Amino acid sequence: MGPQASQLDPALALGRCRLFHGMSADVRQRIAVHFEAVSFKTGQIIFKEGEVGDSLLIIGDGEVEVVKMVGQSPHVLSRLGPGEHVGEMALISNQRRSATVRVVRAFHGLVLRQSAFDALLDDEPRFAREMLRAISDRLRKTDETALEQMVTAHQALTFSLARLADSRDPETGGHLFRVREYCTVLSGLLRGHPKFGPLISDEFVQNIYLVAPLHDIGKVAIPDGILLKPGKLTDAEFEIMSTHTTLGAHAVDTVLEFCDFEIFRMAKRVILCHHERYDGKGYPRGLQGDDIPLEARIMTLADIYDALLSERVYKPAFSYEQAKTEIATYAGTRFDPEIVAVMLDNIDCFETVHQKFKEDTPDSSTVD
Ligand SMILES: [Fe+2]
Ligand SMILES: [Fe+2]
Repeated sequence: MGPQASQLDPALALGRCRLFHGMSADVRQRIAVHFEAVSFKTGQIIFKEGEVGDSLLIIGDGEVEVVKMVGQSPHVLSRLGPGEHVGEMALISNQRRSATVRVVRAFHGLVLRQSAFDALLDDEPRFAREMLRAISDRLRKTDETALEQMVTAHQALTFSLARLADSRDPETGGHLFRVREYCTVLSGLLRGHPKFGPLISDEFVQNIYLVAPLHDIGKVAIPDGILLKPGKLTDAEFEIMSTHTTLGAHAVDTVLEFCDFEIFRMAKRVILCHHERYDGKGYPRGLQGDDIPLEARIMTLADIYDALLSERVYKPAFSYEQAKTEIATYAGTRFDPEIVAVMLDNIDCFETVHQKFKEDTPDSSTVD
């Protein structure tokens, strides 16, 4: 099916399109002769992915969707309506269409063919300038969309990996959701602290939210007999259990070989050091004080605070008051006392998180 002739007034339709803003009505009237009015019915394909691009389309009325095949599946990249245009990229680069344009609501618009397009670029500097601006906007939007999709996919993948590790020894429902929130809240609060503030950037806060759920990922490599043992571990078993820190960190090393990004470096520090203690009596390396990476000192506090408020086979869930007292008791031994002070000064923020993600988190029902 090809296009049908349209009654659309070209000069009027050009007036609605950003490419022609700033042009006088006289100029629009003059250049309107280059355009051809066309109509398409709902469902018709205007441009097909892979075809040679020899025209630009301006939408007068109706709506189109831009669809790209990714593998075997079609993905709708965008929907465009009156005043918008499509097709300029292929026209300028002389390349094939990178996507299909399909009508979703009866379309009336204008087509500008290659030769007329070239003539317009030569004759109307304003049109050339607007075209450059449109292309730059389009590229920026494409970049932003790609980045957004990559970050979303990355977040989903990271969290599902953490859930996978957790599924072998599920901690209290919602633990992973809560620890990432505690870490984010605490990092945000520490930004106002004279010592910690300069160390915590926006990126730090964003990253800790993503990596906190990975803290126990190394547990995937711990044998069931130890991981699921209900009673106290023997010294030998504890020794094996404590390797979840080094084994997890080692797994991240493999990722770092391919992508040496700060987020993975932080993940490694959190996984490796979340059982270190401020007084140097933790594991695996017995690091002390500020030698323990800041994100790991934050993680330890978040992890233990949540464990205190949760029921375990060996203890009931603590009340908020009991948990607060316990945290204060370990300031300077298990925990960095300056971070504890900030947390206790703002303890209501942490209690709010605990309430919000208490048991039924958005997808806790899927934990096996
Ligand atoms: Fe752990
Ligand atoms: Fe944990």
